[in-house]
Amino acid sequence: MSDNDGVKDGVNTPAIDRNTVYIFDTTLRDGEQSPGATLNLAEKLEIGRQLARLGVDIIEAGFPIASPGDFEAVTRLAQDVGQLDNPPVIAGLARANKMDIDRSWAAVQWAKKPRIHTFLATSDIHLQHKLRMTRNDCLEQVGEMVSYAHSLCSNVEFSPEDAGRSDPEFMWQVLVVAIQAGATTLNIPDTVGYCAPAEYAAMIEGIVKNVPGIENVIISAHCHNDLGLATANTLAGIQAGVRQVEVTINGIGERAGNTSLEEVVMALHTRRQFFGNLRTNIDTTQLVRTSKMVSAMTSVPVQPNKAIVGANAFAHEAGIHQDGILKNALTYEIMQPETVGWSSTNLVLGKHSGRHAFSERLKSMGYDLTREELDKAFDRFKLLCDKKKVVTEADLEALVADQFESINEIYKLDTLNVTSGTGSVPVASVRLIDEEGEPHGDAALGNGPVDAVCNCINRITGADAKLTEFHVHAVTEGIDAIADVTMRIEMHADDGKKYVYSGRSADTDTLVASGKAYLAALNKGLRRIKIHA
Ligand code: KIV
Ligand code: ZN
Repeated sequence: MSDNDGVKDGVNTPAIDRNTVYIFDTTLRDGEQSPGATLNLAEKLEIGRQLARLGVDIIEAGFPIASPGDFEAVTRLAQDVGQLDNPPVIAGLARANKMDIDRSWAAVQWAKKPRIHTFLATSDIHLQHKLRMTRNDCLEQVGEMVSYAHSLCSNVEFSPEDAGRSDPEFMWQVLVVAIQAGATTLNIPDTVGYCAPAEYAAMIEGIVKNVPGIENVIISAHCHNDLGLATANTLAGIQAGVRQVEVTINGIGERAGNTSLEEVVMALHTRRQFFGNLRTNIDTTQLVRTSKMVSAMTSVPVQPNKAIVGANAFAHEAGIHQDGILKNALTYEIMQPETVGWSSTNLVLGKHSGRHAFSERLKSMGYDLTREELDKAFDRFKLLCDKKKVVTEADLEALVADQFESINEIYKLDTLNVTSGTGSVPVASVRLIDEEGEPHGDAALGNGPVDAVCNCINRITGADAKLTEFHVHAVTEGIDAIADVTMRIEMHADDGKKYVYSGRSADTDTLVASGKAYLAALNKGLRRIKIHA
């Protein structure tokens, strides 16, 4: 393939640069499919703006047919992030049928650079057992639906779902049909995370060699992490000719997750020569900031040993390592922490800090709040300053995430009191306020104080919810540290199925943070029941 061969990747996009790996971020679509990681509209917009700042080329904003909420989110992202100067492409997912494609187009059409991403499975397992279709039906449907999508939008991506377990020769035929029907990007998903790196690379090489017209489109990798191989497979794909990678922040996604954006980007950056001097458009100094924002808003914590963005990613514990680092950082550090946005200076704010300093600090952390959101956040900051002498960026992160989490609440925590100690059964009394402003109170016992709080909230709301995970983390050091609580609950919906929801909250009182985190998760479940009622 030649460099800059003049191929257009859809609307308003310059010619494909074969020395660039285009970053397609699917945090808001596949990432949000991570159990419990539901985001509200305000959170999606905030993350979308940060992804643009990070420099991603394409944002997959959602699956518009999935629900009215998904449709609204993709539309708003297209109208907001999609209208920035030099904005990312905004993509909307659609199954290969007219209704899905119409819905996707209706949502993404507002973006300066819209894309319809349509998919149909090509593996025999999916065709026979899920879709009950023949291979011929599949070929016909891909031709018709890609061509239909192309009649609406010149930027069309097609994915043969479960490509990793598809018969390669049949998949090549499908890809030829997709190209002839107008697809500009062909995405090759290892949907179930089954492939090994050499196998995934061979699959891409097979496509490069056997699909006429492939030189006119971009080949994309989309890998899942069921065997922990998503990043390795994606990098192997790049070596075999992939020039778009579908990734998520922190690697969140279905089951074991998707390929992690920060891992692929930093592998290409750190081992530039090894990967043939390929570049990305990512501003690597925004990686940590974006990771923290996504973790805070999805209530999905980042494991400390996570590459690049985990708290321990640059922490050297062994004496020999510390000694080496002091003599020359190159001894044990292959990347500088500053390159990915770990700042050594964590300037603090306090009760004398004004609104301007507060707002500037939030902006530098990637939060672009409206005037109303900022007023609310500033009031909460002042209240926090009464309890805590110095407020760090970590405190601010917790404070803002808490504020976004509380949008769309069905119940708000009004008061909470807990009695516990040796020789007595813990008891909690809680008062909640509903959407109409009506108070509801009750009291309950529990095995421990947190259990008593959760039982009490269940009694008041009548919810059939069970706490399955509970994490407390002190945001900073010191006796006045904020407790950041993340909870996962299981809750039955009206369809009889059990769903997982996460909630997160921060407060200087651990039990108050626990009550609010439980309520945040519960509100998501209650909202789902209300929408489907
Ligand atoms: O994993 C997968 O196959 C997908 C497709 C919809 C691209 O997410
Ligand atoms: Zn996927």
